[in-house]
Order: sequence, then C-alpha cells, then structure tokens
Amino acid sequence: MNDVTVHDKTFEVFITNEEIQKAIDKMAKIIAADVKDKQPLFLVVLNGAFVFAADLMRRFDFDCEVSFVKLSSYVGTKTTSVVREIIGLDEVLHNRTVIIVEDIIDTGITMASTIPKLMKLEAKEVKLATLLFKPNAFQKDFPIDYIGMEIPNDFIVGYGLDYDGFGRNLSDIYKLKE
Ligand code: IMP
Ligand code: MG
Repeated sequence: MNDVTVHDKTFEVFITNEEIQKAIDKMAKIIAADVKDKQPLFLVVLNGAFVFAADLMRRFDFDCEVSFVKLSSYVGTKTTSVVREIIGLDEVLHNRTVIIVEDIIDTGITMASTIPKLMKLEAKEVKLATLLFKPNAFQKDFPIDYIGMEIPNDFIVGYGLDYDGFGRNLSDIYKLKE
C-alpha cells in the first residue's frame, strides 16, 4: 500500500482498516456482554472518535443512546496546565452507565481530567472505550475498560485521527515515516 503525504510529512500504512474492524468486533462483543441490559449512553469525544464510533455503534445491537461532546482546550491564565471543559453535553447523566468513546489514549492527561467531571454529574458508572492506547506514553493510572489495540509511541493519522486537521478521512491508520 502507498505512502500518503499529510501537510509536510510522509506517512506509511500501519494498521489496515481490516485489522481495525477485527479489533472493533472483539471490543463490541465484550462491551455488549457488560452493558447490554443497562441502556448505556455512549459519549463520543469529537473530533477524532467519529469514525471509530460509527463502526462501534453499529455493532451494538441493544438499547443505547449515543451523544457527542467536544473537549475545548485552552491554556489556563494563571497556570501552564491545559484545562479542558466538556462542551455539548445535553444528556442527564444521573444514574446512567456512561461509556466514553475515544480514538486514542496517549499520555492520559485528557481523560484524567474528563472522567471526574462526568462522575460529578452523578453517572452511575463511567467506562472508557478507546480504539488505540499508547502504554509507553501513559502517565496516569485510571483504568481503561476497553482497548482496541496497543501501539508504540509513533505519531499516527487516519481513521478519524488527524495531523493538524488533515488525514481524518483516511480509511487505514498511517504512522509517521522516519
Ligand atoms: P492524551 O491526553 O495525551 O491522552 O491525548 C489524547 C488526545 O491526543 C487524543 O484524543 C488525540 O486527539 C491526540 N493524539 C494523541 N496521540 C495522537 C496521534 O498519534 N495522532 C493524532 N492524535 C493524537
Ligand atoms: Mg481525541
């Protein structure tokens, strides 16, 4: 398969769409076994998770809701830490089983601040489903309930993931070529 150029960089095929679909098959079965009777609310984190979510949701043949949020990021005025607020959440989480749908967990910093915010809204339980996980970059210790695939610390694009806004529409996942 061919390399692709996104902006100024060249990327090579890393995970084919076929391999992605197999990983999602497995995950969807495990998720269904856990929550099929709980009318879960799947909370998809935009923008990156939109492609993964579309494939995952169509394999969940039980009652559920699907909603979409964005995590706005801005640098706090007094500190250098990045504060991320959840925007676009309209659903009442009280007593619900919530499953966050993420494209990738890298350092874990984003989810480490997001999960407690959802718990504060009195969700019964908050679970996390991520297509990709970079264990060598992970700096936190929260549990990740469902992982599609573990990958090394390469920078990747495609299947929803972007490099500076571009590359989300690629069917396969590509990694930066050395
Ligand atoms: P974390 O807070 O470090 O876990 O970062 C998570 C977010 O960073 C993901 O939701 C992605 O949007 C982005 N990200 C992390 N690694 C990559 C990558 O290799 N390619 C594209 N985006 C990435
Ligand atoms: Mg993301």
